[in-house]
Order: sequence, then C-alpha cells, then structure tokens
Amino acid sequence: MDIVERINKLKEEKNAVILAHNYQPKEIQKIADFLGDSLELCIKAKETDADIIVFCGVDFMAESAKILNSDKKVLMPEIEGVQCPMAHQLPSEVIKKYREEYPDAPLVVYVNTTAETKAMADITCTSANADRVVNSLDADTVLFGPDNNLAYYVQKRTDKKIIPIPEGGGCYVHKKFTMDDLKRVKSKYPNAKVLIHPECSPELQENADYVLSTSGMVKAVLNSEDEEFIIGTEVGLINRIELELEKLGKTKKLIPLREDAICNEMKKITLEKVERCLLEERYEIKLDKEIIERAKNAIERMLEIK
Ligand code: 13P
Ligand code: SF4
Repeated sequence: MDIVERINKLKEEKNAVILAHNYQPKEIQKIADFLGDSLELCIKAKETDADIIVFCGVDFMAESAKILNSDKKVLMPEIEGVQCPMAHQLPSEVIKKYREEYPDAPLVVYVNTTAETKAMADITCTSANADRVVNSLDADTVLFGPDNNLAYYVQKRTDKKIIPIPEGGGCYVHKKFTMDDLKRVKSKYPNAKVLIHPECSPELQENADYVLSTSGMVKAVLNSEDEEFIIGTEVGLINRIELELEKLGKTKKLIPLREDAICNEMKKITLEKVERCLLEERYEIKLDKEIIERAKNAIERMLEIK
C-alpha cells in the first residue's frame, strides 16, 4: 500500500475525517475529505459525525473545530510552527484596554485569533462574512480585530464606526503584496481579472475586480467566463483552484500576485505527519472548558448569520 492508501485505511478504521484549508500543500489537498475557507471549515467541523477530526491548517482553525466539537478528538498532524502569527496579535491585556476605552462597543474578532481571545469577544467573523456580522450588530461603534485591512474592508461596507485593534494588526503574507506587484503583473496580463483577499492593503482592495475570501475566489474563477486571473493571496490557493478546474476538465491562466506569498505555518503539514497523526492519535487539541464555552458562544453567534 502507498501512503495515501494507508491514510485512507486508517481514516476508515478510526472513523476520522480530514479537514484542510485552501492553503495546504497540494498533496494534502488531494487527501482531504473537505477543503475550504475558514467559514466553511467551521461549518463542516460543526456538522461532522466522525469520531476524530484531523485538521490540516493552522492552530486557530483546529481550535475552532475543537470549540465546536468539545466531545470529539481534534488532532493536528504537527504542533510546532503551525501558529498563525496574526492570531496571537490580540491578547487579553490589549482587549481589556480597548474595552475600557469603548465600554459600549461590541467586540468582533476575526476567527484568526486564539481561543482565549474568542472567549472575550461578542462574536467572531471570517473574511467571508465580516461585513454581514458587523451589520447584524445593534451598535453604532464596533471594536474589530486583529486585521486592520479586513477592518478597512468592513468599514467600506457599513455605516457603523469601526475601531481597528490593535494598531498595525495583520498578516505577514498578505502585507507583502504592493501596488508595484499589481502594476508589474497587470502590465504582463492586462486582461486578467484581479482577485484580492481582504487581508491585503486598502490600496490593493480598491484596485481589485473582486475582494474575496479564499473560497470566494475559487467560486469566482469557476463561475466566470474570463480566462485569466491574478490571485492576490497565498499561493496554495492556486493549487486548490487548479484541482477544481481539473475535475471540470477545464484550464484557466492563474497568475500569483507574488510567487513568494507563502504562509510558512500552513506548509508544515506533510503526508507522513498525517499518517503518524492517525496512527498515534496526536497532537490532540486541548482547551480549558470555560474558554470553550465562552468562545463557542462567539462562534455560534456568527454561524447563525446567513
Ligand atoms: P479564508 O477564510 O479566506 O480562507 O482566509 C484565512 C486566512 O488565514 C487567510 O490568510
Ligand atoms: Fe495566518 Fe496569514 Fe497564514 Fe492566513 S496566511 S494563516 S492569516 S499567517
């Protein structure tokens, strides 16, 4: 048996499911039972009837799966170096400071946060629903963190006053993209449609044809009549789109806005680690019960918003 067959056999024996984010390495995308953006992965994690969830992604995503399924075993194939740096930018001291300054403002946190941060929030959001989440709140002023660029995206789509917290919060991968990158790639492919993730700068968002979550980008390419697309997000998404195009027997030209837009934390998962994870049932996500309860309220409140 090859490694993929061994993983599938283990999965069946243990009634396990593999959930993977759209930025995962190609070989992981191929073995996943479900691939998606952060919102879709939360929904799948809540719906699954598997006994074990193997989460291929970064720490906050596996934690969200555990928060929504505290009675299930949630495993990550790797535990070292899989921490999304942005998810650690909004610690409790910072939240307390802003809460004191704006006592009446609800706190919306991006799912790219730790379980402790979610436990202090009123509601979570993802890049696919951030504007809907904010517009659902009965308040004129909203604290929003930790991604300042996503806060800009929301501010453009709401009449409420958005207070981005903390100053400078954001993703190191998406901060790499500049207008010079866009000009360079656009001059080579003038007819290509520009897809930009809301974690990118305001300037890039303003110069995009579409500003979308990762799965939003997948759907945009698949449903479009256009043939060329500039992809303004982590390069793994190109593999995901290609996988979907392959299933449909189609090809389209997908141009990365930058070849080096690589999330190192997402690339720590390998097939060998997935096999070991299933065999040894490690590394298990463990969270404090009280944190789970409070963070679950914030995530479930988000999932109620259609
Ligand atoms: P999506 O929810 O759009 O997949 O984004 C997650 C993420 O971490 C982007 O950097
Ligand atoms: Fe975190 Fe950025 Fe990686 Fe997304 S791309 S997981 S926000 S470091």
